[in-house]
Amino acid sequence: AADARRSSPIEVDTLPLLAPRGDESHKGDFGRAVLIGGSTGMSGAISLSGMSALRSGAGLVRLAVPRDCQATVSAFEPSYMTLGLTCDSAGRIALTARDELKSQVESASALACGPGLGRSEDLNELVAWLYSEVGTPFVFDADALNALAEQPELLRRPGGPRVLTPHPGEFARLTGEEYDDDPQARRKNCFEFARSTGATIVLKGHQTCISDGQQIAVNTTGNPGMATGGTGDVLTGVIAALLCQGLEPFDAAHLGVHVHGLAGDYAAQELGQVSLIASDLVRHLPAAFKSLQ
Ligand code: APR
Ligand code: MG
Repeated sequence: AADARRSSPIEVDTLPLLAPRGDESHKGDFGRAVLIGGSTGMSGAISLSGMSALRSGAGLVRLAVPRDCQATVSAFEPSYMTLGLTCDSAGRIALTARDELKSQVESASALACGPGLGRSEDLNELVAWLYSEVGTPFVFDADALNALAEQPELLRRPGGPRVLTPHPGEFARLTGEEYDDDPQARRKNCFEFARSTGATIVLKGHQTCISDGQQIAVNTTGNPGMATGGTGDVLTGVIAALLCQGLEPFDAAHLGVHVHGLAGDYAAQELGQVSLIASDLVRHLPAAFKSLQ
């Protein structure tokens, strides 16, 4: 606990790894991931997270999405399950969906919220509930971060193991401060925000920085081909799956960011940076995980 107040972080450069699977393993050993997001016109984002959670070893993946886009989301991939939630007139998750989510939240090994979620007053309240009441390991990304940014008082609340995955724009909204994106500033901002929130912060970009307020790691994989819509949604699924398999938040984020970037490097080798799209990352996750075994 004394360590939690240290003013300079411990540099971590050894990658955590997943334990090899025992012969007698069953899917229950690898956890249930519940991913919350999607809205009309943004059903692809949460689907990308779902596919990447499967490719990252989660035992079961369920996507909790507005009922209006459930059929679309289901059709992307037969290997995940979906849960259709009550939605508002714009096809976003409605606040009453909280009751529909309760049993899913309770049985999950890890959760994620944000990709394709959209923004509304209802969603602000839903995200506030998830952030403050849920004790299960949780990834907050994209519009879930935007909802938190509108309620910054939540960020000081102690709670369950949380991983926040902002890009620089989302980070600036969360902290309410201009964001200076040089490598030194990124490290300092990431570490200090992790320390003040008690969450693991993944500050994305070239050389993504990861900190839990005690440890810090700077990623070396990935390439500018990944600057294309949806690659962040893939990362959310990877980290959720690693949390599901029992890694601690910092380790899940550290390994997840590394593997995600490696999948991007393999995809760029095959396709080139110009043509790389987010679903290519999902296809190259298997090679990335295999290379670490
Ligand atoms: N080098 C290495 N990695 C990179 C580079 C680069 N030059 N550019 C991007 N990446 C990686 C980042 O590190 C991150 O993991 O690609 C990913 C991009 O994630 P996001 O910025 O979240 O982008 P995206 O997935 O398109 O976001 C989709 O989420 O944040 C919201 O409003 C945003 O609607 C958008 C949605
Ligand atoms: Mg994003």
